Amino acid sequence: MTRIVSFYVCQSCGAKTRQFFGRCASCGSWNSLVEQIEKPVNSRSRFGNSRVKSEPKAGRAVPMAELGETPLERIVTGCGEFDRVLGGGLVPGSLVLVGGDPGIGKSTLLLQSAISMACNTSVLYVSAEESAQQVKLRCKRLDGDDSQLKLLAETDLTVALEELDLLRPAVAIIDSIQALHDENLASAPGSVAQVRECAAALQHLAKKQEIALLIVGHVTKEGILAGPKVLEHLVDAVLTFEGDRFATHRLLRAVKNRFGATHELGVFEMQGHGLVEVLNPSELFLSGQSASGVATIVASEGSRSLVVDLQALVSATSYASPRRTATGIGTSRLHQILAVLEKHLGLPLSRFDCYLAVAGGLEVEEPASDLGIAVAVASSFREKILPAGTVLIGELGLGGQLRPVGQIEQRLLEAERLGFSRAILPFGNAIRTSKGKLNLELLEASNLREAINLALGE
Ligand code: TYD
Ligand code: MG
Repeated sequence: MTRIVSFYVCQSCGAKTRQFFGRCASCGSWNSLVEQIEKPVNSRSRFGNSRVKSEPKAGRAVPMAELGETPLERIVTGCGEFDRVLGGGLVPGSLVLVGGDPGIGKSTLLLQSAISMACNTSVLYVSAEESAQQVKLRCKRLDGDDSQLKLLAETDLTVALEELDLLRPAVAIIDSIQALHDENLASAPGSVAQVRECAAALQHLAKKQEIALLIVGHVTKEGILAGPKVLEHLVDAVLTFEGDRFATHRLLRAVKNRFGATHELGVFEMQGHGLVEVLNPSELFLSGQSASGVATIVASEGSRSLVVDLQALVSATSYASPRRTATGIGTSRLHQILAVLEKHLGLPLSRFDCYLAVAGGLEVEEPASDLGIAVAVASSFREKILPAGTVLIGELGLGGQLRPVGQIEQRLLEAERLGFSRAILPFGNAIRTSKGKLNLELLEASNLREAINLALGE
């Protein structure tokens, strides 16, 4: 039997050593050495002209026209929101990484869908973190029929691979990649080398046998433990499970998806018997209060629009430099919008503290929420309440002008569905909508001053 040897490779210069050092002796960079397994090189194929004269290999380039179309047959997970984020279900032979903070509910989501998929197809759940008894207890809590689900409680990669090879399930779940270890590597489980090696071996098997593989990865702080970042290029889809641990709803978002739209969002609620789909998520992000500083925006998340409340609080500062805090929105965006309000509307915000929060713990990244933020701040500053039933949509330029945003019709339809009666939007944006069909008053503004006058009055 050949002995497998491992060595350490510097990730910045590529130098190899047999021993681990904190600092690369060749380029001097710190913490850059990562353990790797040495693969024997076939000398005949590497040297001499044997490469040219050898028999032609099976892999040959083919014209696109000769390739037939095979429709993607997806495996439905039994959970509508999960399927939506995956792009309609799991694709056989694909690798899906589900990342998220510990305790957010990754195991619950995957076990729940494993139980429901096991009714129609073969599913193997490899639990490397919890014992078989613990998984059984969780199954009982989830109230499903788990009789068809196969379970393997194992941390050794070789054993897991053997079992996968033997059972050849249609779907396999690895919970989690950080707890699995390859005995050929000296590094601790969860280190970059272990995570990469384990994922590569699993990928190889999954592609060969057309197993749809769901891998759980923890998002960890920087350090020796590897987050799922090292795997992102390897897998077909990266889903992140997020949410406030103190609130009950959870958001599943597709960051990368080779078989569906990215930025797709699934909304769940954690209850006593597992995760429940939230079918009308906009209601979750509306506070239903009318107070100064509250403005409503329509955010576009993948193929869905969400109506979300923003809350701003502006109060006189008692510090030398005013405080600015934002939850759910980047602080630099808030700074930029405050600067525009100060310069173009003359609001003396540099003498005021400013706090901003998105209701329901949602992260709003798109610039279409700029107008909503600006109006929320102005409303709190002037202590004026926005008229009920108004939504604000628009991107703000540094010169105070409003820029049109995409997917306007979809956003307005969602606002109308939830009973809103007025929308303030950038000039020219309404042209792209079928105005007659909407039961919504559309007010167009070309700059921030006009929009604020429309929203709050002179
Ligand atoms: P878990 O799925 O173990 O998280 P992860 O795998 O991401 O680390 O979920 C954990 C939390 O969810 C835990 O605090 C308990 C809670 N929970 C419920 O509220 N209801 C349930 O039905 C289950 C199974 C868990
Ligand atoms: Mg878990």
